[in-house]
Amino acid sequence: MSINKQNFKRFDKQVNELLEKMTLKEKIGQLNQSSKAKNPEQQKKYEDMCRNGEMGSMILAATSTAGNTDEYKVYTEYYNEFQKIAVNESRLGIPLIFGRDVIHGHRTVFPIPLASACAFNPELVEKCYRAVAKEATAEGIHWTFSPMVDLTRDPRWGRIIEGPGEDPYVGARFAEAAVKGFQGSDEDDLANRDSLVACAKHYLGYGFSEGGRDYNTTDISGYTLQNCVLPAFRAAVNAGCATVMSSFNDINGVPVAASPYYINELLHGELGFEGFVVSDWGSIRQMIREGVARDLKECAELGIKSGVDMDMDLSCYADNLESLVNEGKLDVKYIDEAVRNVLRIKFACGLFDDPFREFVEIDKKPHIELAREIAGESMLLLKNSNNLLPLNKDEKIILAGPFSQERHSLKGSWSGDGEVSIITTMEEAITEVVDANGGSLVTVKNDIIYNKASLEFFKNDGVIVLALGEGSLVSGEANSIAEIEISENQVQLAKEAHASGKKVVGVIIGGRPLALQPIEPYLDAILYAWHCGTETAHAACDIIFGDVNPSGKSSVTFVKSTGHIPLYYNELLPAKKINSYYGTENVIRTTPGFSGYLDIPAVPMYPFGFGLSYTTFEISAPKVNTPSITVEKLKEGECIEVSVTVKNTGTRKGKETVQLYIHDIIASYIRPQKELKGFKKIELEAGEEKEITLPLGYDELGFFDERGNYLVEQGDIEIFVGDDCMTKNKTKITLL
Ligand code: NOJ
Repeated sequence: MSINKQNFKRFDKQVNELLEKMTLKEKIGQLNQSSKAKNPEQQKKYEDMCRNGEMGSMILAATSTAGNTDEYKVYTEYYNEFQKIAVNESRLGIPLIFGRDVIHGHRTVFPIPLASACAFNPELVEKCYRAVAKEATAEGIHWTFSPMVDLTRDPRWGRIIEGPGEDPYVGARFAEAAVKGFQGSDEDDLANRDSLVACAKHYLGYGFSEGGRDYNTTDISGYTLQNCVLPAFRAAVNAGCATVMSSFNDINGVPVAASPYYINELLHGELGFEGFVVSDWGSIRQMIREGVARDLKECAELGIKSGVDMDMDLSCYADNLESLVNEGKLDVKYIDEAVRNVLRIKFACGLFDDPFREFVEIDKKPHIELAREIAGESMLLLKNSNNLLPLNKDEKIILAGPFSQERHSLKGSWSGDGEVSIITTMEEAITEVVDANGGSLVTVKNDIIYNKASLEFFKNDGVIVLALGEGSLVSGEANSIAEIEISENQVQLAKEAHASGKKVVGVIIGGRPLALQPIEPYLDAILYAWHCGTETAHAACDIIFGDVNPSGKSSVTFVKSTGHIPLYYNELLPAKKINSYYGTENVIRTTPGFSGYLDIPAVPMYPFGFGLSYTTFEISAPKVNTPSITVEKLKEGECIEVSVTVKNTGTRKGKETVQLYIHDIIASYIRPQKELKGFKKIELEAGEEKEITLPLGYDELGFFDERGNYLVEQGDIEIFVGDDCMTKNKTKITLL
């Protein structure tokens, strides 16, 4: 597999010298992460702990779900005080590492990760996360608990917003882009002041929380784990990610944080991870509730022996590891190993040489521009009947809907530090455009939208724009919902707008891919604007009024109804011909030999990879440089090169994401109907055409068995190249 860029063991000389000098208490201190002090007594206690070398890290938050709220802010002076004590007053002067949930933005908020993944533009994602790192480190934060790379197939799960969607390949590209953005791409970049230590989370399988209910148990086969869940973590590790967070969940009855297999063997062993693992908040002690430990001491023993190096809050390690060693139940080698992992990263990020931070004022204007750019690439044009969009800038607009004057929700969940005051509402953004261009805007205020008074407004001349969707408090941690249909009162509003005979544009603000079937018939155009951060409204208007040609492609399937879940494009080939993902829209009744549903067709509402543009593209039949290749040659690094010509056949400049899927026709395991194995986003002038080539090598053409053996098997493989996963544009190669 790919070259592993982890090289944190290069600090082991310094690490081991320091370790030699440490007492058991000081070692355990390095494994203890406290939260912010909640009262003066706790403040005093924490100061003493720093003085005594009993704290290795602080999470700058007071509660475990702090990223969903505005309850706290960062204060550089606050933690410098602790740092001074740790560095100047403790025996060995080991600096603390300060962590915080800087997930998809700090002061400037970028799109939720699910949306950013839809940009299919890793270079742009990397730039954005670089900007995030600059803002966060300018306020002294060393370490972020991001990127979240949990693959999920369940849009009921509130935390779907935080990850890259349903596809392992997109997940992997997103993971490495985010890590490089936070940490820099060279080995030594981590020591730069504007680098933020990244943390790939939640290791492992958290996105499979049963029923989409947060913190629920997960049941994942080894086959799915290896092929779908692990790739993003592997990519994060290969990109040099310095830390990993273990997840709350169990897999098949074994809490991940109590599993030497998942952490020691798989993460450190197979994936070659050399950094440290932090637990999720209080997840060491939760093993009592899960019924795998009798008391806190057993929790601590399970956690440390499994390879969880640092205990996030609630002091389970701090209170129990010493007695475990003294009672002979725990070999100190486990503690030494964990301390080594932590110290390596403290050396790698330069904390010993440069432990203090001061607040630095930075110019955020370029970040806001970047936020607007990526938001424009992340939004999805899902419908555009009769090319209703883009609208003319001198159009008369009637704006209604619960999100027309909303600011906060546009930021999305996990954006506690994002400045709300700099967010523009849809009403303000539309006003900016129409006022400057001779158009007009009438807004139906939120207090009357759901009563008949709105009907009066719909009698005005113009185009109706409805700002619809869901708020940011129905997604994120512990915010799952059972039904993902867009709300009934919004459907009613759209119905009334449609009944007026005017054209209706729906701008959907959402954290998850909502089920839009009930509303779709009443909307002539649908722009899925997600929770795209600070610049959501500006970016939506850039698209609505044609300054930006939409290019987002969905990194997740849009189901027709909640009952469709789980529905994902890379499903395994079924036993009988079914009317499912790749079925037929108008076939809903099953006949012998078919499965699917009796009541609705099982095809998606919008498939993975889908998104319209204001122009059209033609992708030629794929050609390969050779129709066959031996597995040995692939192993030696040779590739099959797949080429297509892409032509912009419309009248506007635009960007297209060319997507390459494979299907392994006969294999020793049932393989997915389609699997994404490459993509390239290109920009073409009207009429322009370009040839693009995508490589398929050893890493792309095989799969893992349930035990983690990588298999590249001889036989035929279909290669599809198109503009979404439904493409039938294909060729075939043979592996010899
Ligand atoms: C719990 C969440 O699961 C995790 O993602 C987050 O980083 C921690 N809390 C810290 O806030």
